[in-house]
Amino acid sequence: TARHGTARHGEMVPELQKSTVRIQQPERVMGVIRAIKEQGCSKLQVISDFDMTLSRFGCNGRRCPTSHNILDNSHVISEDGKKKLKDLLHHYYPIEIDPNRTLEEKRPLMVEWWTRAHELLSQQKIQKGDIAQIVRESDVMLRDGFNELFDQLHKYSVPMFIFSAGVGDVLEEIIRQANVFYPNVNVVSNYMDFDDSGVLKCFKSPLIHTYNKNNSVLQGTAYFQQLSTRTSIILLGDSMGDLTMADGVPSVENILKIGFLNDKVEEQRGRYLDAYDIVLESDETLDVVNGILRYIL
Ligand code: C5P
Ligand code: MG
Repeated sequence: TARHGTARHGEMVPELQKSTVRIQQPERVMGVIRAIKEQGCSKLQVISDFDMTLSRFGCNGRRCPTSHNILDNSHVISEDGKKKLKDLLHHYYPIEIDPNRTLEEKRPLMVEWWTRAHELLSQQKIQKGDIAQIVRESDVMLRDGFNELFDQLHKYSVPMFIFSAGVGDVLEEIIRQANVFYPNVNVVSNYMDFDDSGVLKCFKSPLIHTYNKNNSVLQGTAYFQQLSTRTSIILLGDSMGDLTMADGVPSVENILKIGFLNDKVEEQRGRYLDAYDIVLESDETLDVVNGILRYIL
């Protein structure tokens, strides 16, 4: 019975009884978690999105910034630049999360958004040396429990691959300032290209947006080939676009997909439950991820 099932998860991972947790197939999920534990930490890797997955979506009813928003809102952007970046956000973000549009419809529009935003940012004479202060002055917050997550993975030498459509220079600075940028953490993201005097001139290619987080941008990186023995995967994301992040891993034996459902919860619930093994609704913490890792490691 359902009650029986829940009680058994509770014994293994008490955090799965939090009211924010939704699971469509509890038996399957427990089977995958058990299999990952049996394989051991030498077979495990974590693949995670950054914005709104490792960082918080909101705090006290206010939205927290993405790595792009941190730049958009910073003192180095002119008032005119800020307005244009905000207009782009208000136009394209609803498209990004619209459940009634297909990925094929969304893809060219996301390329348009990222391209326009990167062009605007590149006109602002942002200096490489300003990034640390911009991050320090921002409202960005990592989810509660980030310390335990990064510390545990470091302690057990589990590789953590952060695959982000955000801004790599900014997100690296966030985890550096949080003192968790350990050697087992690897990042693929959009990186800034500075001229000889350290002023932003453009963004490096390939452009990573919400809906091309797959092999098409990982082809050049040897990362997954090195990790071909890491056949157990825990994938963390908040968007339907994050589901393909592990596609480049050559031989996946066990994969557990955990999805943070942050926005438009009612409208998106059905699709998230079909796609993610575990859905965390309006949960600003990493409690469930940490609980699963505590059981596995
Ligand atoms: O790290 P992640 O892949 O989540 O980063 C992408 C996020 O950044 C998207 O969810 C999108 O809403 C946001 N974004 C933004 N400003 C842009 C482009 C994307 O806030 N100019
Ligand atoms: Mg995200």
